[in-house]
Amino acid sequence: MEDKGKIVGVLCIQKQTDSLHISRLGVRKGHWRKGYGKELLKFTISEARERGTQKISLERETENVEFYEGLGFKTTREYHDPHWGNSATMELSLPI
Ligand SMILES: CC(C)(COP(=O)(O)OP(=O)(O)OC[C@H]1O[C@@H](n2cnc3c(N)ncnc32)[C@H](O)[C@@H]1OP(=O)(O)O)[C@@H](O)C(=O)NCCC(=O)NCCS
Repeated sequence: MEDKGKIVGVLCIQKQTDSLHISRLGVRKGHWRKGYGKELLKFTISEARERGTQKISLERETENVEFYEGLGFKTTREYHDPHWGNSATMELSLPI
């Protein structure tokens, strides 16, 4: 994602058996809270709809929970990752 020729956000999504998985979503520091993250999530939702996928999944660190919940994601599993620390799987189910 670019703003005035500068990269401000990245998104990596992968098609899995029953879901579209967000393997990376990040907005450049200094550009947070301007709506870029939400735009990337909305893009992912429209991609899932276009591909007929009813679930979006991701792994997140503890601090970003409100960001994802704001767009309807629910925590389905919490665990401790040796590298990332307290983490969780979150999923969004899309209506058929
Ligand atoms: C988490 C992240 C992607 C949010 O991106 P952003 O562009 O700042 O988010 P937006 O401006 O689109 O915010 C969307 C909504 O989430 C809320 N929000 C964003 N970050 C939040 C946070 N850390 N805590 C609570 N709410 C947050 C905003 O207030 C906004 O709410 P609103 O729609 O009611 O106004 C960004 O902070 C980031 O890249 N962080 C570092 C990398 C990272 O943690 N990536 C995720 C890996 S799990």
